[in-house]
Amino acid sequence: MAASGAVLAECHEALAAELGVGVTTAHLDAVAEELIRSRGGVPAFKGYPGPTPYPASICASVNDAVVHGIPGAYALRDGDVLAIDVGVILDGWVSDAARTYGIGTVSPIASRLIEVTRVSLERGIAACLPGNHVGDIGHAVQTEVEAAGFSVVQSLVGHGVGRSMHEEPQVPNVGRPGTGAELTDGLVIAIEPMVNVGHHEVILAEDGWTISTRDGTLSAHWEHTVAVTADGPRILTLS
Ligand code: MF3
Ligand code: CO
Repeated sequence: MAASGAVLAECHEALAAELGVGVTTAHLDAVAEELIRSRGGVPAFKGYPGPTPYPASICASVNDAVVHGIPGAYALRDGDVLAIDVGVILDGWVSDAARTYGIGTVSPIASRLIEVTRVSLERGIAACLPGNHVGDIGHAVQTEVEAAGFSVVQSLVGHGVGRSMHEEPQVPNVGRPGTGAELTDGLVIAIEPMVNVGHHEVILAEDGWTISTRDGTLSAHWEHTVAVTADGPRILTLS
């Protein structure tokens, strides 16, 4: 799983190097797929079952899109908030990670949203210790986000990762300390806070995939695949 995560981290670095005004999300998708396959991996999202099989290797969710935005002809604009989510399968092992970027010059609220979401993921990861519970992760994420005045999406959650992308346990981004599934040595989970500037509610688009904020406010998404170990959390998708 660490090898899979290393390919995914490299993929995110390659994508970060491509970002700029005028770049299409379809181009980013092509760059990701080529990088993943060149390392012997398979894009985990492509063909993933849904209302229609997921058509791409990345999710590219712009501005009020929270997650699962389908890449296409859209060209990035100055001030956009872009969340890129990618999954890799290497030798049958899955890794899953997302990062959010400001394109060009973004508003102060956008850059604060991106940073608060990133830090909330760090807080959640710090709670990944054997004997803790998923509620400790959710509590850590939620506390960070709400202290900043933003809201945590509650209808979507993180998840166990392994041979499949979505395994037990569910990893909510809200919770009470000491509640929910216990974290055990060797468990690998994807922690993925989705944070909105406004209300936490989301809506599904007619394409069957794109999930956006109901109130149209900006959203950000950060995700790492993390192993729970006796030596502390091991982030498998870190560059
Ligand atoms: N990180 C996302 C998740 O855990 C990515 C899934 S996109 C999909 O659900 F297309 F594969 F569904
Ligand atoms: Co995920």
